Parts: sequence; structure tokens; C-alpha cells
Amino acid sequence: MQKKQWQTALKNLPLGQQHYFAQVGSTNDIAAKLLDADAPHLSLVLADEQVKGRGRNGRSWTTTGGAALAFSVILLPKDDPITAQTLGRVSGLGGIAVCLALQKHYSLPAAVKWPNDVLLNGKKVAGVLAEAHWRADRLQGVVLGIGINVLPASVPPARDLNFPATSVAAEYGATVSRPELLAHVLTEVINWYSLLNSDNLLKTWEANLAFRGEQVYLDARDGTHVEGRVLGLNPDGSLRLGTGPGETHTFRIGEIRLRASINLPVS
Ligand code: ATP
Ligand code: BTN
Repeated sequence: MQKKQWQTALKNLPLGQQHYFAQVGSTNDIAAKLLDADAPHLSLVLADEQVKGRGRNGRSWTTTGGAALAFSVILLPKDDPITAQTLGRVSGLGGIAVCLALQKHYSLPAAVKWPNDVLLNGKKVAGVLAEAHWRADRLQGVVLGIGINVLPASVPPARDLNFPATSVAAEYGATVSRPELLAHVLTEVINWYSLLNSDNLLKTWEANLAFRGEQVYLDARDGTHVEGRVLGLNPDGSLRLGTGPGETHTFRIGEIRLRASINLPVS
């Protein structure tokens, strides 16, 4: 897609630098370099295709050329309110931004699968990777990376996935303009960033949680599993799970995978 088409869709947004690439390794890596070179707040890196797209903890994220959105936004703490305490909320901010854009403009029932994925009808449609960058002990900024499967061709083959995936267009039932969707999501990112410390952000994140009130299964990398009911979120974005009568456990954003209990393998 031509750079001009993207620029036209984004012309009313107060972005910093705008970098467009046909193909990159990972937009988050490019944005990290720009952050290091003092790029301004709300600078954007957008790629048509990623060949080394990253998910959490070294997992990979597939971005098929011309069919998806893959972008990273630089968020600086200078004029806006990121603190060490609210860092965990930036992931939620990305999830909310995608969810609300899909709900408002496409009437789609999007929900956030804590901590970092967006689901449509129980299938993964987007992922969020928020990475904090420090200079010594000072927070330099956060790179908020978002990948969205927009057209059906962006959905990886089922054999490469351990959670079902879909695209916005498949659930919407019609084609979707990538530049328009990008503008809607960025509008939400900018709006919610100014509310990062607010109760409103936490409430909106909670209200849009997939599996809220339902039994889920948390799978940690060390092989431990916990089952419980999704109760809600703590102010830092950690998940509260009801694990028994009067018993609540808190899980921080980290190496945890969440599944509906119904998907549990029978052992
Ligand atoms: P899971 O997706 O199993 O619940 P997770 O949410 O922790 O685990 P992430 O790190 O968020 O996983 O996402 C990376 C995973 O997403 C990859 O391991 C891959 O299975 C899957 N994936 C990669 N690209 C896409 C895509 N374009 N659409 C949907 N899923 C993808
Ligand atoms: C996940 O689900 O684990 C997060 C996936 C995040 C993918 C986006 S695509 C744009 C940005 N660049 C990356 O390499 N990753 C993020």
C-alpha cells in the first residue's frame, strides 16, 4: 500500500514521526531504536509485512504482507503520566484501544484476553506487546506494538497456533480498510493514554475482559497450573482470580497463558 494512503487516513492525528516500511523484522525493534535516538512522543512505525514479528517471551507473531496491521507507537513519560506503577497498564491500554475501535466502528464483540490479546468470538484477532525502555534507572519510554489480523489472508494456518485465530474482516463479514482501522485504533490509543492513571481505564479494561466471571485455567511456564474464576483487575493491571471459597490469587503480567476451563485437556 502507498505511504500516501496511510498518511491521508492519519492526517488528523497528532502523531510524532511517521515511518512506513514495506517489510521489516519487527516494528517494535525499529521503534526502540528511534526512541533511543530521541524520537518524539506518538512517533509511529508501520510495516506492511514483518518477518521477525515478536510476541511475548520470545514467541513469534506472524504479519502477512498486505493483509494485517503491524505498528508500534512511542509513548514518552515526559508530558504524559507513565510511572513505574502504571507500566502494567500500557498493555491494557493497547487491548482496550483495539477492542473499542472494533466495537464502535464495526459493531464487533471484541474482548481482551488478559493480558495482551484481543478476541473476536473466542478467536484471537490481535496481540499487544508493550516494552518499557530504561536509561539507567529512568524510564525512557514505552514502545506499544500492536498486530491485528485484518483480512482473512493474515490468519496463520491452524497448525502454527495453539489458540484459534481469526481476522476482523472474517468476523465483520465484509472487507475492512487497513488505514481506516489504524486511524480508529490510534485515536483510542491517544485518548486512553491521557487517562492511563484513571479509574476509568481500569474499569473499561475490566468491563471488556474475556471470560469475566468464568472459570479459567492459567498455565505458567514453570509447569504450574491454577484454575479459578476471573474476578477482575488490580490497579497495576494484575489479574484477580477466585481460587476457592474466600480465596483470591493475584497474577502479574508475566509468563502466564489463560484458557477457558472448558478447553482443559482431560488428564
Ligand atoms: P496463547 O496465544 O497461546 O494464549 P499467549 O497469549 O501468551 O499464548 P502470545 O505471546 O500473546 O501468546 O502470542 C504469541 C502466539 O500467538 C504465538 O505463539 C502464536 O501461537 C500466536 N500467533 C502468532 N501470530 C499470530 C497471528 N497473526 N494471529 C493469531 N495468533 C498468532
Ligand atoms: C502477542 O500476542 O504476544 C503480542 C503480539 C504483538 C505483535 C505486534 S505486531 C507490531 C509489533 N511488532 C512486533 O514485533 N510485535 C508487535
